[in-house]
Amino acid sequence: MNTITLTQPDDWHAHLRDGKALERTVPDLASQFHRAICMPNLVPPVKTVEEALAYRARIMAHVPEGVAFDPRMVLYLTDHTSPDEIQKIKHSEHVNAVKLYPAGATTNSANGVSDIRNVYAVLEQLEKYQIPLLLHGEVTHSHIDIFDREKRFLDEVLQPVIQQFSDLKIVLEHITTADAAQFVLAQGRKVAATITPQHLLFNRNDMLVGGIKPHFYCLPILKRQSHQTTLLEVATSGNPKFFLGTDSAPHAQDAKENACGCAGCYSAFTAIELYAQAFDQVGKIERLEGFSSHFGADFYGLPRNTQQITLVKEDFVIPESFDYLEDQKIIPLLAGKTLQWRKM
Ligand code: NCD
Ligand code: ZN
Repeated sequence: MNTITLTQPDDWHAHLRDGKALERTVPDLASQFHRAICMPNLVPPVKTVEEALAYRARIMAHVPEGVAFDPRMVLYLTDHTSPDEIQKIKHSEHVNAVKLYPAGATTNSANGVSDIRNVYAVLEQLEKYQIPLLLHGEVTHSHIDIFDREKRFLDEVLQPVIQQFSDLKIVLEHITTADAAQFVLAQGRKVAATITPQHLLFNRNDMLVGGIKPHFYCLPILKRQSHQTTLLEVATSGNPKFFLGTDSAPHAQDAKENACGCAGCYSAFTAIELYAQAFDQVGKIERLEGFSSHFGADFYGLPRNTQQITLVKEDFVIPESFDYLEDQKIIPLLAGKTLQWRKM
């Protein structure tokens, strides 16, 4: 198959940042996706519907002429989020979910939730109104090995939550382990997961063998190859519980190539090509459309997109860098490397 036409995809997990960063991130993401779940981990975070709508307006101001882009907004859950705020989501046209970051788990998560039991009253409201809870699924205790943090979250945090709130809609974001894939498979249809291109294409050897490659460093961290294999299996299985979420997370080159480099891979501009590469590598390109364009919308209860895109099997060289902020660069995932698929 040398061309493939897909319903236009959506990105159910993206970081656009704010201010001048939007000049880069919004056109890049809008060139690929119709809708995107815009993560709320700004500084300070997006905590109320009012703040989310103001952020959405700042994003919309950077959408190029003639491009139809529909940012879907998310509130950042803190220990102090009021259950009343959840009702406001129900009545909002543009806010679709709430994100839980365990405090300290990742970039800009200091204001996150210190103990999930502190927000059980909020979870009750989410369950009542069927608003998805998006999870950064890692525990944060310093004595727990970074490679075990996702699995520990499933056992210690998520299992009890599901027991208590059996009808709550949950998206386990950017899953990285076979444990998470199996956990999601074992739950009812209210529990789903997003998967990033980097966790389908790479494993920790790509990041650590032959020198540390900071542009592969993201959270949750890349795991061993057997986990990558399972993620590829579930992503390409046609099971609607697994759908596209790039976790494209821009950081300036200096902040990544640093003695204390920050976590996040930038894939917004080339995301669908990266996913096509991953699916084609295991001979499952025909399964891409469900994963990229149908299952996420279905889970969120939004209509599927009506526009289409076409991918052609042709060499496509990822740019070495992009301009970012005043005088900085951003290095995209797989900068300078050649992919086999290109969006027309
Ligand atoms: C994200 C970021 O930079 O905002 N980084 C990352 O490594 N994925 C935060 C997140 O989603 O964990
Ligand atoms: Zn993220």
